[in-house]
Amino acid sequence: MAKSRFEYVKEFEKENYLLQNCYIIIRIDGKNFHKFSKEYQFEKPNDSRALNLMNKASLSLFSKFNDVIMAYGDSDEYSFLLRKNTVLYERRESKLNSIFVSFFTAYYNHYWNEFFPDNPLDVNRLPTFDSRCILYPSAENVKDYFKWRQVDCHINNLYNTTFWTLIEKGKLSPKEAENKLIGTLSSDKNEILFSQFGINYNNEKEIYKKGTIITRDYNYNKSNKEIENENENENKNKNTGKIFEVNLTERQKQRENKKIKRAKILIEHIDLIKDDFWKEKSIF
Ligand code: GTP
Ligand code: MG
Repeated sequence: MAKSRFEYVKEFEKENYLLQNCYIIIRIDGKNFHKFSKEYQFEKPNDSRALNLMNKASLSLFSKFNDVIMAYGDSDEYSFLLRKNTVLYERRESKLNSIFVSFFTAYYNHYWNEFFPDNPLDVNRLPTFDSRCILYPSAENVKDYFKWRQVDCHINNLYNTTFWTLIEKGKLSPKEAENKLIGTLSSDKNEILFSQFGINYNNEKEIYKKGTIITRDYNYNKSNKEIENENENENKNKNTGKIFEVNLTERQKQRENKKIKRAKILIEHIDLIKDDFWKEKSIF
């Protein structure tokens, strides 16, 4: 078909193909949730309904894309790790960002009533999210990324728990609570909670302290023999550099997909800072 004389404008569109051989992390974050959480009266400092809704939306996304191998979230954010050699949407940054964030937002809105049945969404105050893609060249960097997010979750949660306890139980004003916490270390906050309010921070819910991790257990429901055979095959592929590469044969791709479909999805609130976590999970 002949091109119209307007066709040249297409040349202005530029794609950013994310660098090969790097892990892609897509992080989604609630837009202005400080305000949004007030408008919908989220419980302070943690609202389990809101966290469970974030988890449900993320789980839907995780189940939808086989190339997502791990997800981690707390508060109003969620990070999705794509396998190193994914060719999802040809690694086009704008496609990945826009598709992930729109699916996530759609799921979040869709499931809202299940978690907040008495608080319907107002069309003028709908929940929205932003998203970014980050590239990491090594497994070490990826591990540090998730450790960074989990440490952040811990620091924020300890601060928020102490802050709101000082206000709600200690009857301080927000300004007084803020002043009291200036320059305090983690140990000071633990001490305030324990000595003044009898709260042992260690007993707080794991989901609040550690956030939520979504992974797949590929060995679920398999005999030891099956696991052994698969490990042998994978090692062979690793040695030939073929694992997860774009040029996997159709049969290898089918096998990969079958493995993912059979896997059990795990949702956990555990420590990922210690090496044990990474040794146990077959993520890298
Ligand atoms: P942008 O992300 O820059 O748009 O701003 P933001 O207001 O979303 O801030 P940010 O993402 O840094 O922080 C998330 C905010 O969401 C927190 O500071 C809280 O105010 C709020 N939030 C998230 N989860 C909860 C919750 O369970 N309960 C309450 N009360 N607030 C929450
Ligand atoms: Mg936010």
